[in-house]
Amino acid sequence: MTVTKRLVLTSDHAAIELRRAIFDHVTALGWEVDDLGPMTTESTPYPERGAEAARLVASGQYPFGILLCGTGQGIMMAANKVKGVRCGVCMDTFSARMIRQHNDANMLSIGARVVGLGLALDIVDAFLTADFEGGRHATRVEMIKALEG
Ligand code: RB5
Repeated sequence: MTVTKRLVLTSDHAAIELRRAIFDHVTALGWEVDDLGPMTTESTPYPERGAEAARLVASGQYPFGILLCGTGQGIMMAANKVKGVRCGVCMDTFSARMIRQHNDANMLSIGARVVGLGLALDIVDAFLTADFEGGRHATRVEMIKALEG
């Protein structure tokens, strides 16, 4: 499957440095990135950040999104409230690959206070290079979608 190499990226104040590093990394790999910020270290609520990016993915403007906060958990929870979004927190590359292959995740969340820079970039690579396998997994993803109401 050919996927447009576009993604939306956001964080709260706890993950600004990691967000900048991911922006540079994926841009160098040829991805077109819409970095929603924040651009200052001022405290900003992760639910608003996650929801803003999630709506852009759910609307089809971006096939993928990457979310960052301190743990990756809060911003993931907010994003998953938006219909059409399937976001997983990943602290390892195996999970990052599997949420694409089996769960057709369209958003990835990482905890900037949990993983180091090198691992975070590997997690991003694993997520962005894996494809959804379909088949029996498609049936299960449809079951997730049915829960959205
Ligand atoms: C902010 O201090 C912190 O709560 C946030 O980045 C995140 O870890 C929430 O899930």
